[in-house]
Amino acid sequence: AFRGQITLDGPSGTGKSTVARGVAARLGAAYLDTGAMYRAATVAVLDAGVDPHDADAVARTVAAARIEVGTEAGTELVLVDGVDVATRIRSAEVTRAVSAVSAVPAVRRQLVDQQRALVASAEVVVVEGRDIGTVVLPDATLKIYLTAAPEVRAERRAGQLGITDAAEIAVLAADLRRRDEYDSSRADSPLRPAEDSVVVDSTDLDQQGVVARIVELAASTV
Ligand code: C5P
Repeated sequence: AFRGQITLDGPSGTGKSTVARGVAARLGAAYLDTGAMYRAATVAVLDAGVDPHDADAVARTVAAARIEVGTEAGTELVLVDGVDVATRIRSAEVTRAVSAVSAVPAVRRQLVDQQRALVASAEVVVVEGRDIGTVVLPDATLKIYLTAAPEVRAERRAGQLGITDAAEIAVLAADLRRRDEYDSSRADSPLRPAEDSVVVDSTDLDQQGVVARIVELAASTV
């Protein structure tokens, strides 16, 4: 059986989370959603009334916040200073501000340290994010970079949110593009495929197909 670390990076709306959970379930692996940690940090920033673009204030606020993620009885657990924010981290307000918060180097250092500590003891683990294969776990066993055509990503996100109106889908597409550009162009840990990653394009694959492909890759990595 596969043992080790699988990293799953890529832009928004590729179905990364569903795929990561699916792969973890198939391999009996632990699972870490690092995006949830940046989103939780963003909740702390917004609740403190801090401007997400004020890097110093953001760094101070996040340094003082206790961020915890995990799963309990199959449900996602996300806490900021002991308060459950699992629903709030998916709000439009948090989604708009998260890229600015996650571009602050001190925030990244803090959360990357925490991420490494969380996975250190796991024998089999799937970690999803933007910089996992490049920065967080450069020696991971298997690195996947998940992509999909931009229109397909916007449509999938719309499907998740139950949005069918073409104008609203166009707004979603613009928002995905903006977040990807921001994540790809930041100085610290930009979104890009690790050199030794396997690029999986999910444009023409459903999520089960992507999970199957990654499980296959894991099996041939043993
Ligand atoms: O994956 P998710 O969409 O929840 O991530 C939210 C945001 O958190 C991303 O757009 C990115 O700005 C940031 N992020 C990051 N590094 C990670 C995971 C997420 O910068 N490893």
